[in-house]
Amino acid sequence: MHVLSKAGTICRLFAVGAFVRDSLIAGNWKMNGTRSSAAALARGLAAAVSGSVRCDVVICPPLVFLQEVAECLAGSDVALGAQNVDHRTEGAVTGEVTAGMVKEFGCSYVLVGHSERRSLFHESDEVVAEKALAVLASEMTPIVCVGETLAQRQAGVTSRVIGDQVRAVMAAMTPVAFAGCIIAYEPIWAIGTGETATPEMAQAVHSDIRCMIAEQDAETAQGIRILYGGSVKADNASGLLAQSDIDGALVGGASLKQDEFVAICEAAGV
Ligand code: 13P
Repeated sequence: MHVLSKAGTICRLFAVGAFVRDSLIAGNWKMNGTRSSAAALARGLAAAVSGSVRCDVVICPPLVFLQEVAECLAGSDVALGAQNVDHRTEGAVTGEVTAGMVKEFGCSYVLVGHSERRSLFHESDEVVAEKALAVLASEMTPIVCVGETLAQRQAGVTSRVIGDQVRAVMAAMTPVAFAGCIIAYEPIWAIGTGETATPEMAQAVHSDIRCMIAEQDAETAQGIRILYGGSVKADNASGLLAQSDIDGALVGGASLKQDEFVAICEAAGV
């Protein structure tokens, strides 16, 4: 299959037999909830999702609720993730936690480079890449978030911005390590705004990302999962998830509502 990337490059993606990428629905609870509301939501999701949904599901509560949530998810089909870790392995870094620490709580995924961290905490592409490496070193899966601002989209530089963000991570690690990452495309203008990229807009960027990766490694490009995030809700999930290069969703606000999140998981499992 040949695809024309937005950068104007022809990229060739090999149809590798029956290459199936399992869908992943990730809930990013951000800085919301209480200890008891987190436990109630986790317990509810564990019961609602287990055995009935045919996609991978992970929830990322605030760090201080990891223990509570891990206990509620024990034995269920819902995995545990962290929203952030530091890239260092120990030391005098007040207020931060390491990848190894969240792994001890049972996390198997960690979000890195969320746009809120890039903007509020000035995380550079290089730091994001180091965090992804730290997560891999602790045998967890980094979900590397990338995305453009509205001004960048309007200026027509989306492909360049996303390319810089993705290539910084690729450049920091071996192709084998990069194949262990998940990418989440989250246009910043769609986060928490109720404004979603149309399925076609999202698909165009996802295919562009896959092409950038294929320029280095066609097999990784075929296998890597690319999630979409930004105002994903029960009523727009199926249109987005039906796109050939969208392999799941990173859900913010709607992941705090059990029925809404379960409905998104169900949309991914069909
Ligand atoms: P919303 O789904 O609330 O737009 O948030 C998206 C997001 O930032 C997930 O990481």
